[in-house]
Amino acid sequence: MKDLNIKIYSDGADIEDMVQRDVSNDVDGFTTNPTLMAKDGVTDYIEFAKEALSKIKEKSISFEVFSDDIEDMYRQAIILRDLGENVYVKIPVSNTKKEMTYDLIKRLSSEGVKLNVTAIFTIEQIEKVYEALNKNIPAIISIFSGRIANAGIDPEPFIKHAVSLAKDTPCIEILWASSREVFNLIQAERCGCHIITMAPSLLNAANKELGKDLAQFSLETVEMFYKDANNAGYNF
Ligand code: E4P
Repeated sequence: MKDLNIKIYSDGADIEDMVQRDVSNDVDGFTTNPTLMAKDGVTDYIEFAKEALSKIKEKSISFEVFSDDIEDMYRQAIILRDLGENVYVKIPVSNTKKEMTYDLIKRLSSEGVKLNVTAIFTIEQIEKVYEALNKNIPAIISIFSGRIANAGIDPEPFIKHAVSLAKDTPCIEILWASSREVFNLIQAERCGCHIITMAPSLLNAANKELGKDLAQFSLETVEMFYKDANNAGYNF
């Protein structure tokens, strides 16, 4: 892939794919979430996490708590933390009852738990999460840029704001989450974002197409139309 000044994480729950990217050093870390795990057929949450950690021993991996009760989120966070040194515990910014998790984030971060605060969509959330984090404990702030963009709003100012908040706190990294296209890599990098996470399919597209000559790309597209029309037997 084109040389970029940003860490690239893989966003998924396919163990084989994760291990292969770990071994080939294709990425710098991994993110998962309950939705991705369910989609990839994971049935036992903790067994999956243990298996992943038995194979990926150094790169950062984020596993998410999914309880809807703040105290129970704390319990799950401690279990996930204890699975491995390279675990970042993902805490959603609120539960479904609209109770914000800022106090929980403060508690866990001050106890030294490495966190990845997730499902962040607003400037207020960015600021409150940043404030709650212990600035000497590694943490990631995951801004759901693709979903923000799908709402018709440019996510770049959100990322830039977060990056500028964290400019003097190297332990706190800003992550462009919810990527939707390869160009997000360019956007994230130009905002000074520290990490971008991308689905394996998007990583493959980036490996294949980033920096590609556009005239050649045009030709390949025309070849595709021609081949598919012929294969379908179209004639008029
Ligand atoms: C981040 O860590 C999340 O797992 C992820 O990027 C979710 O994105 P999406 O559900 O919008 O694709």
